[in-house]
Formats: sequence, C-alpha cells, structure tokens
Amino acid sequence: METFEILFVDDDRTILNLVKEYLTNEGYNLTCVDSGLGAIELMKHSNFQIVFTDLKMPGLSGIELLRRIKEGRPGTEVILITGHGTIESAVKSLKLGCYDFLQKPIKLERLKVLIDRIIEQKKLLDENILLKKRLNERYKYDNLIGAHPKMQEIYRIIDRISLSSPTVLIQGESGTGKELLANIIHKNSDRKEKPFIPVNCGAIAEGLLESELFGHVKGSFTGAFKDTIGLFRAADGGAIFLDEITEIRPYLQVKLLRVIQEKKIRPVGDTKEYKINVRLIAASNRDLDEAMMNGKLRKDLFYRLNVVSIKMPSLIEIKDDITLLINHFIQKFNAASKKKIEGITPETLGALINYHWPGNIRQLENVIERAFALGVDKKITINDLPPEIGKLSKNSITDGISYSLRTNEIALIKKVLFKTNGNKTEAAQLLGINLATLYRKIKKYKLAEKPLQNANKYESQFAFLHNS
Ligand SMILES: Nc1ncnc2c1ncn2[C@@H]1O[C@H](COP(=O)(O)OP(=O)(O)OP(=O)(O)O)[C@@H](O)[C@H]1O
Ligand SMILES: [Mg+2]
Repeated sequence: METFEILFVDDDRTILNLVKEYLTNEGYNLTCVDSGLGAIELMKHSNFQIVFTDLKMPGLSGIELLRRIKEGRPGTEVILITGHGTIESAVKSLKLGCYDFLQKPIKLERLKVLIDRIIEQKKLLDENILLKKRLNERYKYDNLIGAHPKMQEIYRIIDRISLSSPTVLIQGESGTGKELLANIIHKNSDRKEKPFIPVNCGAIAEGLLESELFGHVKGSFTGAFKDTIGLFRAADGGAIFLDEITEIRPYLQVKLLRVIQEKKIRPVGDTKEYKINVRLIAASNRDLDEAMMNGKLRKDLFYRLNVVSIKMPSLIEIKDDITLLINHFIQKFNAASKKKIEGITPETLGALINYHWPGNIRQLENVIERAFALGVDKKITINDLPPEIGKLSKNSITDGISYSLRTNEIALIKKVLFKTNGNKTEAAQLLGINLATLYRKIKKYKLAEKPLQNANKYESQFAFLHNS
C-alpha cells in the first residue's frame, strides 16, 4: 500500500485533520493540502496516484484542479467531494475524467472502500500490462527454445553482437546448449555464409590439437604425410568454436593467445606465417575461476576470450521452460518419425518437472527421444520414462505434491528467501540452520541470490509441509 500515494485537497482544515488521522491509521500514505494551487505545487514533486479534492475552494476550484491533473497526468484518479452537488458539475467533471463523487459529510469507510477499489484496479492494470509485455517476449531464437528471462537476456545479446562479431565465451553446465548457442550466434552474424567449425579440444589427442588447429607441413612429425592447412585457415572468414577450452595444454594456450593477438598462424614445421580472419567462440562447462586457480586455464587467454560472456542457465534454473522444451522435442521427433504422437500425460509432465536434470536439456531431449524409440502409444506416459525418473514419480502422489526431500528443501528455501526479501541471515534463522549451511545450499541448488518473483509457485508443494 505504501507505494500508493494519496493527496487530499480541501480548504476545511477540520476535514483534513479528520481524514488524515483516519487514513494514516489505516496504513495509507496520505498527504493533505488546503488549496488547489497548493495541490498543483505538491504534484510537481510527488507522484500521487489518487487525488481527492473538494469542489468549492477559493482560488482554484476542484473542477479546474481536475482538468489540470487530467491534462498533465491522465493516470491519476481524481475523486470530487461536494457539499453542494449539482447535476451540472457532476456531468462536467465526469466528462473531464473524474473517477467518482463523494457527498459531504464524508463517510470515512466509504473513502477507504474507494481507495481500495482504485488500488485493486491499478494493480490489475499493471499485471495486464506485464502480461502483454510477456506475450511479446520471444519464446525461441531459431532452435534455441526458452521464454525464461535468462533466455530473453541471451536473445538480446545475440541481437546486440550480430553486427560486430566479437569473441564470445560461453559458460554453462554440460547439456545446457552451449554449442547450439554458438551455432546460432554464427548464423546471426555477417560471417554466416562462411564456415562454422566446432572443435572439441577435449576429444583430440594431446599432441594432435596443435596441428589440427594450425596445420602442419609434410614430414614435420611422424605420420605427417602431407601438408594440412589446419582448421583456422579452413574457417577463413567464418568462425571456430573451441569447446572445452580448459582441456587445451598450457603451452598451446600460449600459442593460441598469440594467434588471437596477431591474427597470424604458423603451421607445425613451417617457416612461413599466414594471415587469418576467424572469429572465435569458446566454451567450457568447468568453473573457470577454479580452472585459472589450478593452472588449467591461463588468465591472459581467459581475458582475451571473455570479450562477451554468456552463461547458459541449467535446466533447474529455467524450470518454467520445461513444458516448452518438451513440446519442442516432441515436434522435432514427430517430424522425423512415421508415427506421430499427441503429447504427454499430465502425470508424466509432473514427473519431468520434479526431476533434477543433472544432464540438463540434452538429458531431457534424450528422455523424449528414448520414448519415441521405444514406441510411445498416443501420449508419453510414466512407463515411457527411464526407470530412474519414472521411479521418482512413483514416490509422488498424483495430486502434484512431491515427497522428494530435495524438491521440498529447494522449495522451502526459495519460499523463505522470498519471505525475507532475500535476507539470508533472517532466512537461516527461520530455517533453523546456520548461515554457512544456507549459503552452501544456495550454491548447491543454484538458487537465485535475489528473491524469486514466482516463489508462490512453489506454494502448492508445501501443502505437504504445512500439514505435517
Ligand atoms: N534451449 C534449447 N532449446 C532447444 N534445444 C536445446 C536447448 N539447449 C540445448 N538443446 C539441445 O540439447 C542438446 C545439447 O546441447 P549442446 O550440445 O549445445 O549442449 P552443450 O552445452 O554444448 O553441452 P556439453 O557441455 O556437454 O558439450 C542439443 O541437442 C541441443 O540442440
Ligand atoms: Mg558442447
């Protein structure tokens, strides 16, 4: 209620005092002033959402005040108070956009009812605007699916960097879509006609990565039967996606850094250098701070790569998108298979939503693909899920209440953080654990540091906790 500011204008100070005492006691944020001109002055500095004004006042009349308010701030609701109400002034003020009338003597309860109604309507309006804004938000960018704000932020970054093609470093757990994103970044850049070459640095034998990337001349090492230009030159004008960068040996990291800085490469065993024009997109599913501390990633290379940094959220973080993703994968596999399926049963959807997805979106995709492979009837059911996920759901009863300790622990922590507005000391007290334990759990479950807007969504899961 404190965000709603109310102004009361009347030349009768007795009325002002009465109203002020009543509404302030009721918890409203009220300012009083005894003239129309005084009101105009106050409105220059405050954002009143509701103005009550007496009709007859010396100087500026209530009708004139109403007219000026509606010209300057049409969103402010004005209620006229009249002791000498005539039909004409009523009609005139309604035409000017007056919200309602109050007859003197003022009934204080009626004031409260009116204010509450306006506040309620304004809130609904705000929610509606928010909802419309949400509907305008994208739920996908090419094949990258997700409506969560974290995904929206990623879509905005793809747009922003599409013209300048800077180096990008993508971090995120395994299966969160790093390679998919790298591909989309390339497809949305002005290099899109040129090659996109993914290199999994962890999958290429240690000694071979250098010649794979930079090429070699015939005879430069055993097995080098002919000259090879290497992936950097093969990607000329396009992009190289260096995946699992922490798997590159430190000596090669130094070479890579030089290549990035000088935009030239020297193939293994060659004396010549070649100019290259390649965009770099790098990725890792490791904690890079830790990797730098352990010497697995050179700091200077990290800073060179980390021009634009994108963190892919884990599936748990964007849980609200699971339904979207499931539909996307069903469509994808429907398109590729002769037998089409209709969807998924609510119970199965519930089981998938409750699962903790260590393998993220890749694991979810595999679960749907597996169901198709095993032959789903019309809809995917619990029996079509891998045993470890299906079994979990048998522990939950079908009314949506989870008996999983982990799920309830996550939900409870989120709820308490929401309740304490993110204050962790208070939250730890409420939870009956010490602060360090709470921090550990927040880290373990990757919970948002700020209180979640949608924490009440977890409310339903608490029926179980409340009742016990
Ligand atoms: N947001 C998404 N929308 C649709 N499909 C996705 C999304 N994220 C991931 N996928 C799909 O999940 C699978 C795994 O994605 P990808 O290979 O890009 O993950 P990754 O982060 O590179 O994983 P890893 O670290 O294990 O290499 C791919 O088939 C990809 O198409
Ligand atoms: Mg990958």
